[in-house]
Amino acid sequence: MAASNPASTRVACHCGGGRGAQSGNRRGPTRSEGQQSVASGCQRPALGASERGANLTGMELAIFVGLQASGKSTFYRERLSASHALVSKDLMRNVRDKNRRQLALVRAALREGRSVAVDNTNPSPADRAPLIGLGRELGARVVAYFFDTAVPGCLARNAERQGRAQVPPVAIFTAARRMVAPRLEEGFDALYRVHLQPEGFRVAELPSPKSAHSEPNP
Ligand SMILES: Nc1ncnc2c1ncn2[C@@H]1O[C@H](COP(=O)(O)OP(=O)(O)OP(=O)(O)O)[C@@H](O)[C@H]1O
Ligand SMILES: [Mg+2]
Repeated sequence: MAASNPASTRVACHCGGGRGAQSGNRRGPTRSEGQQSVASGCQRPALGASERGANLTGMELAIFVGLQASGKSTFYRERLSASHALVSKDLMRNVRDKNRRQLALVRAALREGRSVAVDNTNPSPADRAPLIGLGRELGARVVAYFFDTAVPGCLARNAERQGRAQVPPVAIFTAARRMVAPRLEEGFDALYRVHLQPEGFRVAELPSPKSAHSEPNP
């Protein structure tokens, strides 16, 4: 049940430092679909009550939005792996309908009371809508992490990757054409913009209309 899940008090934790030893070319710990446990160890408290809205389950669905090689998987490993289960199409081998499988995995995690991160490009509102709907249906706080990176940087980082980790550049251009920045109006409870910098990630929350009203600037 959600109430007894230790992860329920650790949603949306951005703890973690720089790139660390696991930020290389997908050499970090990759989890199989059957190993989506929410690891313990992250002790930072959840976001403030005003940011959690009316969510009473303590679960969070974090939807990543970003081009290939924008840093999504590195960010997951460094910032969310202690609190969120991982769902990624990169981990699905021999799965014909990956969207369907993705929804099934998210549903399974949330039904077990676990927070979950969806580590895919999710470029358009149409890609995100079924995930948002599912998260809301199951009572999770639904947030977007927008990896706001330019195409040239993604191409350069992609070119540095080796083997299967490297994607054809055309895939990055295609995703860039489809990319629409996430908006709160899509149904998100909060929106975070992530900037990939040489020294690591910088995360900024965009103010929601609600918090802007309740916490006016002095
Ligand atoms: N702060 C940083 N500065 C420069 N490069 C970085 C930084 N952090 C991670 N990288 C590198 O950027 C590359 C892309 O990162 P990552 O694999 O996390 O991207 P991704 O968004 O998950 O890509 P994909 O969508 O293809 O899975 C990796 O080779 C990683 O080592
Ligand atoms: Mg990745």
